[in-house]
Amino acid sequence: MNTDINQSSLIRFLVGRFDFIIRLFYSKMRFYKLFNFFLPRLHSSDFESLDRYFHIITGELKKQGFSIRGKSVLEIGPGNSHINAYNFLLNGCRKVIFIDKHPRFFDTGRQRSFMRDEIRYFKSKYRVKKFEYINEDTGALNPSYMEFIAGGLPAVAFPGKVDFIYSIAVLHHIKDLERYIRKMHEILNKDGMMYHVIDLKDKFHFFGNPFLFYKYSDFVWENFLTEETLTYTNRIRYREYVDLFTRYGFKIVWEKTVSHDFPVFKINKKFAGRSDLHIGDAHFLLEKV
Ligand SMILES: C[S@@+](CC[C@H](N)C(=O)[O-])C[C@H]1O[C@@H](n2cnc3c(N)ncnc32)[C@H](O)[C@@H]1O
Repeated sequence: MNTDINQSSLIRFLVGRFDFIIRLFYSKMRFYKLFNFFLPRLHSSDFESLDRYFHIITGELKKQGFSIRGKSVLEIGPGNSHINAYNFLLNGCRKVIFIDKHPRFFDTGRQRSFMRDEIRYFKSKYRVKKFEYINEDTGALNPSYMEFIAGGLPAVAFPGKVDFIYSIAVLHHIKDLERYIRKMHEILNKDGMMYHVIDLKDKFHFFGNPFLFYKYSDFVWENFLTEETLTYTNRIRYREYVDLFTRYGFKIVWEKTVSHDFPVFKINKKFAGRSDLHIGDAHFLLEKV
């Protein structure tokens, strides 16, 4: 008897059947704090995999003839990683601004140790001798290179304009996405570009159904099963992203999507009949028009 397989099918069965209760406890009863305690890396960024995005993003920018040299950049939702900012700066960007509505400041031993590991990895991988973007002891950003804004983009007085905006695994967590996209257009310079990596899957996708959240109406989802802290997921689908970007003055110059199969189950009428339900990952490269 293979116990591993039996255990994982049992977990899948339980999650598929009782996800309502698990989600309710996890988000509304704040059980995620317990998860964070026992699984400290659960909500931590993975700097090695994030590092790969720099090469993916700049590879696509290059194909469009967009040079990052001397440019100012905004990263939305960096989590606790600075690795892409370091890459942009090392490769000639002038400045990187971060904005995050739920900031993770470097005020705990665990955060500082993450920061140091990330810097060590970056310096050794790219053979960096002079590293002056951040104070390696305190985590204080060097304002000549990097600036952090705590808050939501539509709500803050943004300091000027930028040439490039990117986000990795963030837009699907934003509640007022329409206002965000409008503000991105406002603060992007003429000829500016943006790159967004969006995860359209349910956070429970490891348990056999990447779109289990199609079960729920907006009312149930928003009021009981998701929470605007670490766990909020807006369930905006691929087609709506395309419409929002287009409506607010962006042209999609390149995109990549990944589709996922999912088992037959009862989908809420909110999602019924859509043709984009299988799309679970999307990358968009956009230009301001
Ligand atoms: C899944 S994490 C991704 C972090 C990092 N980009 C990564 O890939 O590891 C989502 C990030 O988006 C941030 N976030 C959520 N809602 C936001 C909002 N409305 N405005 C800005 N950042 C937000 C969260 O605080 C978190 O840092």
